[in-house]
Amino acid sequence: MPDRAHRDFLAIPDFSRKELESLFDLADRMSKGKYDRKPLAGKSLAMIFMKSSTRTRVSFEVGTWQLGGHALFLSPRDVQLGRGEPIKDTARVLSRYVDGIMIRTFAHAEVEELAQYADIPIINGLTDLLHPCQILADLLTVKQQLGGYEGKKVAWIGDGNNMANSWINAAYRLGFELTLACPEGYDPDATILKRAQKEAKVTVVRDPKEAADGADVVNTDVWASMGQEEEQKIREKAFAGYQVDGALMKRASKKAIFLHCLPAHRGEEVSESVIEGPQSRVWDEAENRLHVQKAIMAVLMGGEKL
Ligand code: CP
Ligand code: NVA
Repeated sequence: MPDRAHRDFLAIPDFSRKELESLFDLADRMSKGKYDRKPLAGKSLAMIFMKSSTRTRVSFEVGTWQLGGHALFLSPRDVQLGRGEPIKDTARVLSRYVDGIMIRTFAHAEVEELAQYADIPIINGLTDLLHPCQILADLLTVKQQLGGYEGKKVAWIGDGNNMANSWINAAYRLGFELTLACPEGYDPDATILKRAQKEAKVTVVRDPKEAADGADVVNTDVWASMGQEEEQKIREKAFAGYQVDGALMKRASKKAIFLHCLPAHRGEEVSESVIEGPQSRVWDEAENRLHVQKAIMAVLMGGEKL
């Protein structure tokens, strides 16, 4: 029978500050080759992808295998979910076969419904609202590159999208300073923002220069996310002036790092010189997806303690 005493990872605040710190320690040990347990031996992860993916798909599949388990890639073309089988039915059926589900989809409510009906851990691999695994990888990168996030100033330049919302959730849990420069009409989620502003210095401004001034981390993402492709032209106009280029990076701290979750559109949200430049840490950031997700799976599915 499936185990009902499980926990999910749908959003960063699902973990306490102490648990997040312990998760980063575990991921850091994994990244340094200091972890050789196989907590997923004999276990399977179902990976549901309703949107495209390179990093999430490969890092979850390889990560599951490295922990001794097995991963199944399920696209809408392969599973009945793509033909309209209800999420709640999919949740109960998959719970009888596998030990965890990673899902990437559109509406965040679908992931919550999956978690409500499943008897196994659910991991959010991106929704229109949030991208929590990515922000854990970003925070691990910040810790490894800058020694920690305490007292650091993080700048977000661009769309108030799933990435921005998850950065706000991270500031809410961990208390660092976050300034987001978003064009009018492209602000982050109001509820997520309001909650964070009670716990941390989180500010939304219009001027990218204001956000970048003295920042330790400069972060951006595409102007049109998956599912918004038909808005590309309108968004190019709305986001003109929001490119992270050399001039903007000069306003940040001398030791500042540049992060981007990828895929990147060079010449739009970031210049070629910044993404390929000496302050860019985007490849370490991408690698850290593997380490943080292995830590999440080891804890949620493999009995590893935090
Ligand atoms: N950053 C990220 O989630 O990349 P993919 O869309 O390739 O998974
Ligand atoms: N905001 C982007 C992130 C891609 C990893 C999107 O949702 O498409």
